[in-house]
Amino acid sequence: MKKKLPIVLYLVITYHVPTTQKKGNRRDMQETEVRSSGQVEKCTIGIEELDTQLNGGIPTGSTVLVVGSSGSGKTTLCMQYLINGAKKGERGVFFTITEPLFKLTKNIEGFKFYDKKLVETGMVNLIDLRIISERLGLDAEKYTVEDASALLDVLRDIAEELDVKRLVMDSITALCYRLQTREMIRDFIFKLGTSLAAMKCTTLLTSEVPPRTFKYSQYEIEEFISDGIIFLGDVERRGDLIRTLQIVKMRGTSHSRTKFAMNISTDRGIELLPLLKSE
Ligand SMILES: Nc1ncnc2c1ncn2[C@@H]1O[C@H](COP(=O)(O)OP(=O)(O)O)[C@@H](O)[C@H]1O
Ligand SMILES: [Mg+2]
Repeated sequence: MKKKLPIVLYLVITYHVPTTQKKGNRRDMQETEVRSSGQVEKCTIGIEELDTQLNGGIPTGSTVLVVGSSGSGKTTLCMQYLINGAKKGERGVFFTITEPLFKLTKNIEGFKFYDKKLVETGMVNLIDLRIISERLGLDAEKYTVEDASALLDVLRDIAEELDVKRLVMDSITALCYRLQTREMIRDFIFKLGTSLAAMKCTTLLTSEVPPRTFKYSQYEIEEFISDGIIFLGDVERRGDLIRTLQIVKMRGTSHSRTKFAMNISTDRGIELLPLLKSE
């Protein structure tokens, strides 16, 4: 029988969570970064051209799949989203399943946009989901319905306790792998998304797909249930492999579906550039 642990127990296993960030200390949250576009509140990603293509950002409270093969830039995009939000006063949490925290931090420290202080002050919280499930006594490979429900409760508790406005799950594919049926996957993503939407928390889920594929998710349910899909791919041009980004769907806003060239650099992180169509 899985017991519900007090929130403080989850917090001690985060990369760094100081006591100053507990609910109630919300002054910084007032500078919310949502913009208005018509009636819809928007959450900016912080990548200028991408926000422009989304007409101001992702509708607040949405669940968006960030799809791509290994090395396509999913983790970097999600980190940039969290860091940019935190710089503007929106607290975020990053749940990693595929990479241990030390590896994740080591990679992200290389980027100029990274600011260690945001992690130290608890504006960005990095949490290893495998450690949480271990502490909950869940099977590492497969979750029962009861396990999934216990995990969902913990995720909701953490998001609520920290009062996060941005959440990342890296990757939803690894989590879905542990959920045994399509119904469990549907239920998990739906319930997580609904709870977070009620908190006006905008969620990015990374989805691993094989290279050069037109699939957006491993189990298909992830893409049907998500409000938006951002696809990271590549095209070959004169022997060069160019990174691309395309907004495939985004409920609640008009957006471009143009395929952009995407660049990842130490200085600027992810940025979008026009993809020249001529050979
Ligand atoms: N510090 C850095 N400076 C510039 N580019 C980097 C840096 N770190 C990683 N990259 C680029 O980002 C790519 C990996 O992106 P990542 O977000 O980890 O992909 P994914 O999560 O989709 O597997 C690497 O292949 C590399 O080209
Ligand atoms: Mg990654």
